[in-house]
Amino acid sequence: MSNGLTMDTLVSLCKRRGFVFQSSEIYGGLSSAWDYGPLGVELKKNIQEFWWKEMTRVQENIVGLDAAIMMHPRVWEASGHVENFTDPLVDCKGCKQRFREDKLPAENVASKKCPECGGELTESRKFNLMFKTFMGPVEEGGNLVYLRPETAQGIYVNFKNVTQTSRVKFPFGIAQVGKAFRNEITTKNFIFRTCEFEQLEMQYFISPDEDDKWFEYWKKERWDYYKKLGIRQDKLRFHQHGPGELAHYAKVAYDIEYEFPMGWQELEGIHNRTDYDLSRHTEFSGKDLSYLDETTNKRFIPYIIETSAGLTRTVLAVLSDAYEEQKVEEGDTRVVMHFHPAIAPVKLGVFPLVKKDGLAEIAQNIEKDLREDFTTFYDHGGAIGRRYRRQDEAGTPYCITIDFQTKEDNTVTLRYRDSMEQVRVKIAEIPDFIKKADKEYRRE
Ligand code: GAP
Repeated sequence: MSNGLTMDTLVSLCKRRGFVFQSSEIYGGLSSAWDYGPLGVELKKNIQEFWWKEMTRVQENIVGLDAAIMMHPRVWEASGHVENFTDPLVDCKGCKQRFREDKLPAENVASKKCPECGGELTESRKFNLMFKTFMGPVEEGGNLVYLRPETAQGIYVNFKNVTQTSRVKFPFGIAQVGKAFRNEITTKNFIFRTCEFEQLEMQYFISPDEDDKWFEYWKKERWDYYKKLGIRQDKLRFHQHGPGELAHYAKVAYDIEYEFPMGWQELEGIHNRTDYDLSRHTEFSGKDLSYLDETTNKRFIPYIIETSAGLTRTVLAVLSDAYEEQKVEEGDTRVVMHFHPAIAPVKLGVFPLVKKDGLAEIAQNIEKDLREDFTTFYDHGGAIGRRYRRQDEAGTPYCITIDFQTKEDNTVTLRYRDSMEQVRVKIAEIPDFIKKADKEYRRE
């Protein structure tokens, strides 16, 4: 548990406020699939843009890519996913539930007894996690394609295309955001593990003798990134993979873990993938993917340091981290989502103190002008205090109120979400004021 928050409380807030809905809810829902509502989609997009800026635009030597979800089936043979991307599954002969053997308590594995009903468990079988489908009208083996289980392979197969067209200088990176699919047994942890999800991946191509140096570099960069995203540091930790945990492609791997409401879990994986991927694609495609470093005149297959975060999982971390039930005074509690202003779904609430006396019209005009700069939300319904509280729950960092004084001196009241402090700001100065406040933002 983090900040006393339970997953049920978070799921209920997400539904009530339009962050995340159960998929196909009117048909009874599809388990482990979720839809992002009006606030959720803004939050997810903002996190994606934040990552993209941090991992491409402000980096000297990282370019972007957007590869197709469906790829040549040989890609997944070369990558090792057809052979190795499996979970060990057991079924209960009694209640018919299916479990991942490696996630079962040790006593159930030893006794072969179901943790739910005590029934007998089957022998464990390897189950491939890739979703299969068919391209073209005939459902036969020759038309088999997979939905990608990671975005990374789209980058590796374009390695030559990018080096030949983009003038990146070695060492360099290629970044990509996109959907990935895994036919997972999902537990009841909301959007934490889903069959369809989004990844934020960056592959950094380096000389084989510099892998330790670059691995440490990216470990630090990625830790700092979460700091900038506004995640509390005491909720983050590194976890090094032991030999039994390492993916088939990895020589060294560290997870950045976050303390979710159900406990510490992986948020991002940082992997030293060595020359495994480019060597395998060279072998399977027959195309030489070696690289000639013109400064040293050496030719080699680059090593790859990968940083791989879940976008949808980051949304869960950000939601969990932002949540606070705050006692304002005796008998009065408010729910506040402390999103960093850079990723808050709505940046600015705009309210007339009352609807009458022309205040609503003035407020609407101000809001319209500010839409160019910020995601805004106009509201004139109910008491002003209740409107503030609604925006606290949506995580809106600033609200402005247009009152009778506005008519006299063209100023508004600006209220901060976290401190609830109020200051007077000139209408013309609102954009600059907010941009400055964003830069100075520190969560208390
Ligand atoms: N390319 C390397 C790779 O895919 P991974 O550790 O399997 O490595 C990277 O996945 C990240 O993707 C994880 O840290 C997690 O954030 C996210 N992720 C993986 N499987 C997921 C799932 N079923 N649902 C949501 N996010 C997932």
